[in-house]
Amino acid sequence: MNLKDCHNFDDFRKLAKKKLPSPIFHYIDGGSDDEVTLKRNTEAFNDCDLIPNVLADVGNIDLSTTVLGQKIDFPLFLSATAMHRLYHHHGERATAKAAEKMGTIFGTSTMATVSMEEIGELTKGPKLFQLYIHRDRGLTDNLIERCKKAGFNSMCLTVDTVVAGNRERDRRTGFTTPPKLTLGSLLSFAMHPGWTVNNLIHEKFKLANIIHMTEKGSSIDKSVIDYINEQFDPCMNWKDAEYCVKKWNGPFALKGVMSVEDAKKAIDIGCTAIIISNHGGRQLDGSRAPFDQLAEIVDAVGDKIEVILDGGVRRGTHVLKALSLGAKACSFGKGYLFALGAGGQKGVEAILKKMKEEIYRDMTLMGCKSISELNRSKVVFRK
Ligand code: LAC
Repeated sequence: MNLKDCHNFDDFRKLAKKKLPSPIFHYIDGGSDDEVTLKRNTEAFNDCDLIPNVLADVGNIDLSTTVLGQKIDFPLFLSATAMHRLYHHHGERATAKAAEKMGTIFGTSTMATVSMEEIGELTKGPKLFQLYIHRDRGLTDNLIERCKKAGFNSMCLTVDTVVAGNRERDRRTGFTTPPKLTLGSLLSFAMHPGWTVNNLIHEKFKLANIIHMTEKGSSIDKSVIDYINEQFDPCMNWKDAEYCVKKWNGPFALKGVMSVEDAKKAIDIGCTAIIISNHGGRQLDGSRAPFDQLAEIVDAVGDKIEVILDGGVRRGTHVLKALSLGAKACSFGKGYLFALGAGGQKGVEAILKKMKEEIYRDMTLMGCKSISELNRSKVVFRK
């Protein structure tokens, strides 16, 4: 199996599973507790159906939209995810270049393995920086200031990860970053020699954005769960979020908003957007799926703030359904991370290309010439 055999999310996932040592595969693939929310995130899209219109003169379709102040070629972008070096030795360089090539936003994490300065140099494409508030509050100012200098266009603050979700797969596999050779994982590394050799001969794993700021920066050397619990500040509150919005003074999103009440507060503190997300089912298991919660939030605040849908997106039709309910755009994480593991930059380009083609074909079949034509009349929920 190789990249040309990958036609959809499941194929990229399968190829990533072949290529990645199991602790790394399970780190992306897994959710928390019983993984109910992880599954529901995608299943939720199947509770409604699209209603197409025919004879709609759809020879030419415009998929572009503007989100967080940036025009993108199609309404799906790369959610900020941590530590791309785990999946491919080019790390965030590969994902950033793929996003630029495909004309969409590249999201990078506080916990990235390539620095925001290097990303800023590497790509002129639209860039979103994702902020985690650490207990060391000096880090927040430092990250925001550097981010401006590095030429990032927008920022998001992740608000659903004040403690780590209970990721039992990571506990079972003994996942650490950088990955450690243990008796248990030895076999898995030996069975994935391509990844293991590349990991050894290329630059060392580091949390490049915060390496100078925390002694944990270069090497967590323990589980991500422990890192989050030790380093992230559970006392983070609305005042802190407002501080970040003001300090950034540009397009700003709160990521991980799930309630109407919080969506309204996001408007009050001056956010440009909210990203409805449950962190890919990795945090509070049993929390509602973003798609299930979308219409209610759009009805309450959709005319005052951009609403972005993140979670479970695997198909072009999922994006169409979310946009029909009023989302401005969608983002995804696992989709492109599996593709990164499957084939580096080429893999990420391939999945973005597939998703763009699917969205284009689905729009054609829906009889919609531009995404502004997607509205509530295009989607019906089953009784
Ligand atoms: C995770 C954090 C680091 O989900 O975003 O693992």
